[in-house]
Amino acid sequence: MRAINAVLLLALLLTFSGCVERPEAPAVSEQQATEEWKADGIVNEGEYTRSMLLQAPTRQGYSGGDMQISWRNDEEDLYLALNGSTLGWLALGFEPLEWMKDSDIILASVDKGTAVVLDEYCTGNYGPHIEDTMLGGTDDIQEFSGSESAGRTTIELKRSLQSSDRFDKSFSPGQAVSIIWALSDNPDISQKHDVAYGEGILSLTRAGGVASASLPGSLTPIEKDG
Ligand code: HEM
Repeated sequence: MRAINAVLLLALLLTFSGCVERPEAPAVSEQQATEEWKADGIVNEGEYTRSMLLQAPTRQGYSGGDMQISWRNDEEDLYLALNGSTLGWLALGFEPLEWMKDSDIILASVDKGTAVVLDEYCTGNYGPHIEDTMLGGTDDIQEFSGSESAGRTTIELKRSLQSSDRFDKSFSPGQAVSIIWALSDNPDISQKHDVAYGEGILSLTRAGGVASASLPGSLTPIEKDG
């Protein structure tokens, strides 16, 4: 009886301490695109239609950090800007099966002012992730650029929504795409993330830019659970 009481007390304490609360989905801000998209490593006002800030706290092995993701899409292409709190590598992975496995990864850094953006695929739960071309696939990042400023790295890139490469995920306008992200303070991509990592949902706009029904606030229970 005593043991049961202790377990109940512990459960109550955990519930009210906030330790078991699910993190809120980050707010997605929306605006009209008023500018042409340009791969210049600078996120201009009006260049993207959606934006969200993904954050991860300091914890063992991680200094803590954030990544601002801005995006827009039309019927054919996805335009992305990743702005992470690091001067090392930053990455976005599309649709992992679980953990990092089977995610279609964009892994990027800026080396002496020049952006390096790799089209990769993760074959195991915690890596390895390898360039698609080494797995028999193709490099499908069409245009990219990057810059570094005030301890942050910005990468802009374009890729097709649909891909014939089996190491790329294909998307449709209006789709809610599950993502993972990670930051390292080391530009060496063989080094594991040590700043932050996390997950999220990237809601693509429907044809004509009509707001997707999948924005946070109107997520289905399954989408909320990631
Ligand atoms: C050198 C490359 C990488 C290595 C060795 C690596 C290794 C690992 C390991 C060991 C974990 C378990 C948690 C931990 O130890 O902190 C983990 C988790 C994770 N990694 Fe990576 N990783 C790498 C790159 C990436 C990249 C590029 C991404 C993002 C696209 C990523 C996203 C994640 C996420 C989201 C988790 C948490 C998974 C979960 O618990 O659900 N990792 N990684």
